[in-house]
Amino acid sequence: MQYVSTTPDRPLAGELAVPGDKSLSHRAVLFAAMAEGTSRLVGVLDSEDVRASIGAVRALGASVDLVTANDRGLELVVTGWGGEGPHAPDEAIDCGNSGTTARLLLGVLAGWETGATLVGDASLSKRPMGRVTDPLASMGASFESLTGTLPITVRGGGLKGVDYVTPVASAQVKSAILLAGLQAAGRTTVREPASSRDHTELLLPAFGVPVGRDRTTRAAWVDGPVVMKASDITVPGDPSSAAFMVVAGLLVSGSRITVTGVGLNPTRIAYLDVLDRMGAGITIEPSEVAGAEPVGSVHVGYTLGLRAAVVRAAEVPALVDEIPVLALLATQAAGETRFEDVGELRVKESDRLAAVVEGLTLLGASARTEGDTLVVQGPSELRGTGLDSHGDHRLAMTWALAGLAADGPVTVAGFEAVDVSYPSFAADLAALSASG
Ligand code: S3P
Repeated sequence: MQYVSTTPDRPLAGELAVPGDKSLSHRAVLFAAMAEGTSRLVGVLDSEDVRASIGAVRALGASVDLVTANDRGLELVVTGWGGEGPHAPDEAIDCGNSGTTARLLLGVLAGWETGATLVGDASLSKRPMGRVTDPLASMGASFESLTGTLPITVRGGGLKGVDYVTPVASAQVKSAILLAGLQAAGRTTVREPASSRDHTELLLPAFGVPVGRDRTTRAAWVDGPVVMKASDITVPGDPSSAAFMVVAGLLVSGSRITVTGVGLNPTRIAYLDVLDRMGAGITIEPSEVAGAEPVGSVHVGYTLGLRAAVVRAAEVPALVDEIPVLALLATQAAGETRFEDVGELRVKESDRLAAVVEGLTLLGASARTEGDTLVVQGPSELRGTGLDSHGDHRLAMTWALAGLAADGPVTVAGFEAVDVSYPSFAADLAALSASG
């Protein structure tokens, strides 16, 4: 599907609540499926990725009933397999485009003898899984894969806890190991080189599992074996989806936007720090806590005279999904914006590093890589052009925003990729244009 984006004839204005957090929705569904008893989940993101997790846990024997589906997302009642463990699925489990589904499930399944094969779409089938299967194999699980990527058959059980130092700062890797640790004998510890999002550490205690943490050494641990207990969870709005609306407000002159009910977990909102350093008019208003997750509103006002910023390696895990859209905004800021040590972008839903440089260049901006550093030189006048999502939801949305600031229409091929994380993106953007 093609999307044509043009400069609106008036500012963007108004208040909106973005859909539920994708990372938390996956975890809420998986943890409820693993738990003993019945959990009620509210505000679950209704998107292709999360549907992959729901389909997976159903195939493994959890019962998932849909109570309502409306613009606040899904309300689900989930009865988990608890201490009995998952059932053997009838066929391979299709994780679609979802790296979180695949990697976290590998951790879950490593704990049981059940046995299952995971498959994914063309993009997911290229993404590295050894970063998860290597540590899980050291705990005692076995994996069959021809190439270290999906399809992978996992057979687990009889795990022993490990103390694992992961070479990548990845919440998917950390979570997979901790979830396997719930079925392992003794303590399972993961140590990361930089702090990745900590939703697993914050959500497991709600399901009755204490999680030990040492923030200075970036270590987290669980003691197994332990059976999770059902819990009622409300999922806040996705800060990564909010980032697109915030940047939209900074691309269209005179805009004023408020995003409400959005997650403000510090391991997710480093993009707001970067926008602040760029001089953007942003105010954060904390309002409540949803479980252990902070929630609030983000106000953004269009700001003249944005400046370039340097994004250091230690910050990258806390804004990894926002780099494409921040790079787009950097084309409008004076000076050289640098994103250091962002090689991980090469193994996301697409090679985001190559695709961002290619897309920004087609738009008439100046962008390049220096090794693993992404460099954007601004300010540039953007021109209308045709761009491709490369089947990647975050690129589809980034390119749609480029059209807001370009001198002619920007056409985005493969726009349907937005359904992975933010199916109502175009409608939400149109509503902000209509109220301006
Ligand atoms: C996610 C972690 C991040 C992120 C992805 C979701 C998660 O991936 O890019 O969109 O829910 O744990 P990595 O853990 O590979 O950095």
